[in-house]
Amino acid sequence: MCGIVGFTGKQPVKDVLIEGLAKLEYRGYDSAGVAIEQSGALEVIRRRGNVSGLAHTLGHFDLEGTCGIAHTRWATHGRPTETNAHPHLSCDGRIAVVHNGIIENFVELREELARRGHDLASDTDTEVIAHLIEEEVKGIEKEGDFDSMSPDDFVRAVSRALSRLVGSYALAVISSAVPGVIVAARKDSPLIIGSAPAGSCVASDIIAILDHTRDVFALEDGQIAKLAESGFEVYAAGDGECVPIEFELVHVDWNMDIAEKGGYSDFLLKEIHEQPRVIRDTLAGRIVNGSIVIDELDLTSEELNLIDRINIIACGTSYHAGLIAKNLIEGYARIPTEVEVASEFRYRNPIITPTTLVVAVSQSGETADTLAAIRDARVKGAKVFGITNVLGSPVARESDGVIYTKANKEISVASTKSFLGQVTSLTLLALLLAQSRGELTTGQVKMLFRELGDTAAKVEEILADTSAIDQAAASCADASSALFIGRGQGAAVAHEGALKLKEISYLHAESYPAGEMKHGPIALINEGFPVIAIATDSPTYDKVVSNLKEAQARGAKIVAIATEGDEQIRSIAEHVIYIPKVRDAFSPILASVPLQLFARAIALLRGCDVDQPRNLAKSVTVE
Ligand code: G6P
Repeated sequence: MCGIVGFTGKQPVKDVLIEGLAKLEYRGYDSAGVAIEQSGALEVIRRRGNVSGLAHTLGHFDLEGTCGIAHTRWATHGRPTETNAHPHLSCDGRIAVVHNGIIENFVELREELARRGHDLASDTDTEVIAHLIEEEVKGIEKEGDFDSMSPDDFVRAVSRALSRLVGSYALAVISSAVPGVIVAARKDSPLIIGSAPAGSCVASDIIAILDHTRDVFALEDGQIAKLAESGFEVYAAGDGECVPIEFELVHVDWNMDIAEKGGYSDFLLKEIHEQPRVIRDTLAGRIVNGSIVIDELDLTSEELNLIDRINIIACGTSYHAGLIAKNLIEGYARIPTEVEVASEFRYRNPIITPTTLVVAVSQSGETADTLAAIRDARVKGAKVFGITNVLGSPVARESDGVIYTKANKEISVASTKSFLGQVTSLTLLALLLAQSRGELTTGQVKMLFRELGDTAAKVEEILADTSAIDQAAASCADASSALFIGRGQGAAVAHEGALKLKEISYLHAESYPAGEMKHGPIALINEGFPVIAIATDSPTYDKVVSNLKEAQARGAKIVAIATEGDEQIRSIAEHVIYIPKVRDAFSPILASVPLQLFARAIALLRGCDVDQPRNLAKSVTVE
């Protein structure tokens, strides 16, 4: 969570920082702030709310400084107030820090600093860092010499302060005593350093600095960088000391279009429309002579066949992709599969053996709980396979093998195209396991792979006419609660549909396997209560219809996602949203798309910001 950007160069830095922050808002947008060196002092401007608010405020300031740092926050310690917004300053205001991560021992550090006379203004964990650096600069015992601090002294002071911290951090620090220098460091939170013709830059994500440089270095845990207008140096930090190290810049040839809306009114809609492309890209090259190929898994067929249990771990929407995958893996490969949210898995002492395959699913590849679960599983001897959307992300680096979902950068906080990329990738994994263990013949695999590929065109059909979805949304937008039901794959889709609706429209939604409705949720139903049912063609279709009749008898307003050609459902549902025919196993790929659009349409009718829902963040890098 939280986004950091910093730049030091020849040009005024204010606009560079604001543009960078705007691209990092997917990491949080509770508050934002900048610190810019200006005439030998640090000018710090912070605001509650998102980056455009900060940009507006900055418009009133004449800031010409060429070195600065900036931050967009997702609150962890301390409410999202202006006082808690970053950058945070030392007592004398000569050190400013922006930070992403959590300092776990900040309470004791605060008390210690207070005993030594420091006055901390905020409730954050971050502020202690600025004060610790200040002490290192001055020397705790003697009155120090800020004014004679060299850039190397500054790096050492930061390094020594960091050695006091327990927890995770990506941070950037500037000091009015060392003009033109940014010190950056990381442990367990991402940080990219870039070398630009006009200076040096640092950011939580490459997207924030891509306008200025394509030559970057991803700082590793325990490294510190010193950035100046002329370039940057990297040091290995240990016990507070720093040793310069060699590093290699990586040239990135990303297209900046990915960060633009491409003609759509919001990123969410753009990303929903990208889904056919994601399916096609994810499947490209994955079958050779009738055999599924996932070389990245890096397991021989003997090792694949030894797997006797699969644990899928994930959070949020990725967890729902896992629920869909369980049905596919058990159905096709006949391997017992459990799906669990990572925050539970990591604290539960699950049964993991060397023949367990742990599949970690994470769009961002940096979700703290998922990462912790991966580490735990590996300690217990399991092979870990990551499914992520972000190249070189921590999940990718820490897994034994990885599939990239080919969704490209997802900006909207609510996950859509990544979800379909995950489901498609997990389907490939199920087919690979099934084929390797002889549960599916080459002929069956070819047929299933072709049908899987056909879902891309079928999603395009759904996207081509959304009138039924919009009508259903208009009739439900004023509700205060809704129930999503389905069976089998439909139950997993119901969970994701309810989550999408909650996330972006703030309309309360519950999801239940349809058969469980009678055991509680049916009590919610009264006249006009929306029940959204996944009633596609499946072995349990008749059972779902019976459940819908029970809901209908109690006055529910039924919205059914049904298979083209199903006329029977019209007598039960007030709104029917048809999707093309597809085998039940692959139905989530189609059925989830109208539910994404349904949630978006309701959110817009309720006046919500569909790309940046309140209280949420795209990457949850704290537990
Ligand atoms: C946040 C996002 C969700 C996402 C979840 C898991 O809650 O808002 O959209 O599904 O994190 O993130 P991951 O990156 O691990 O898939």
